[in-house]
Amino acid sequence: MVDIVALLVLALLAILFGWLAKRAWDSKRAWLKWIGVILAGLVTLIFILLFVVGVIGFAKLNLPQSNPVADVKVAGTPDQIARGKKIAMVCTACHSTTNGLPLDGGTRNFVGPLGTVVPPNLTPGGPLKDWSDGEIIRAIREGVANNGRALIVMPADQFHGMSDADVQAVVAYLRSQPAVQHDTPANGLSPLGMLLVGAGIFSTSVQAPITQPVVAPPAGVTADYGKYLVGISGCHACHGADLAGGTPGGFTPVGPNLTAIVPKWSQSDFIKTIRTGVDPTGHALAPDQMPWKLFNAMYTDDELGAIYTYLHSLTLIIKSAK
Ligand code: HEC
Ligand code: HEC
Repeated sequence: MVDIVALLVLALLAILFGWLAKRAWDSKRAWLKWIGVILAGLVTLIFILLFVVGVIGFAKLNLPQSNPVADVKVAGTPDQIARGKKIAMVCTACHSTTNGLPLDGGTRNFVGPLGTVVPPNLTPGGPLKDWSDGEIIRAIREGVANNGRALIVMPADQFHGMSDADVQAVVAYLRSQPAVQHDTPANGLSPLGMLLVGAGIFSTSVQAPITQPVVAPPAGVTADYGKYLVGISGCHACHGADLAGGTPGGFTPVGPNLTAIVPKWSQSDFIKTIRTGVDPTGHALAPDQMPWKLFNAMYTDDELGAIYTYLHSLTLIIKSAK
């Protein structure tokens, strides 16, 4: 609603200054004519531009996305719930009042002055009780809400490659949680946030539709499986798309260049680092920066071995200091 008002105000301001430019153009006095036309004309153009950017942002945020909803019914077997519970630990960073399970919803507004975006309660006490399994799966992997709206801040890019079996396991776990009553605010961006989305400076969570089966590599101590686990664990969010170091200024802490560090370690060095939070040089990792306790709880030695095998296989990337 406030978005529409902001767009109307921008349109009115563009019309007002356009009218002033027209008035100046009609003026008999030459100096008034040219100064007026140039100034009012420039301001008119700026408001037209802001209006167009605002309309684009409004459309990206509010028009229903075309991503189809899969027609699936998750069985909810004990195996699925156990597997889903492990993966759901990644979600605790945002969707939890305790930084642990259950996923009763976050407390932090991620976008500050750009609006309100608080991670919702994902237990059956929250909105998901009215969503279909396919809608939840689409939200996790494609960043689209049940009504088709684009989600914001939800890292669907990170979960886009999650296999059908794993994402169904996550749904099984979400449904198995106790129904915690914890209301989070309605999410939405302010007009400024809408303009930033329209200008492409701030992206929504929406990902390409998934219409083909997604299968994970077979579990084992292999680089392929390690790459899959690194993807769904969110290592890229902090350590960068190429794992060669994160980018300052985002929502997440900036992780160091793993392509330069991990290949110098043995597999047991790596596992020990994640298990104890102390690396082979004796440096203690800050738990609020690098969530090693989470990964320690989440992964078996074989899974950490797979992650190590993948990280060890990466070619060294050196980035010049920014
Ligand atoms: C970086 C923080 C973050 C992480 C990590 C994260 N989410 Fe979210 N998630 C959000 C935010 C913020 C929203 C709300 C976005 C909005 O309303 O536009 C959201 C929305 C959702 C929704 C839609 C719920 C609703 O009521 O609208 C689902 C489902 C969801 N997340 C599942 C998950 C699952 C499952 C995981 C872990 C595998 C996860 N999320 C990890 C931040 C996160
Ligand atoms: C929330 C952000 C975040 C996520 C997610 C994250 N890291 Fe980190 N990581 C960091 C930061 C920040 C540091 C540096 C911490 C310090 O030095 O105290 C770090 C340090 C490390 C180190 C130690 C480097 C050294 O020189 O001792 C390793 C290894 C590592 N991360 C691997 C991973 C892997 C593998 C994943 C995914 C399974 C991952 N990280 C996910 C932020 C993150």
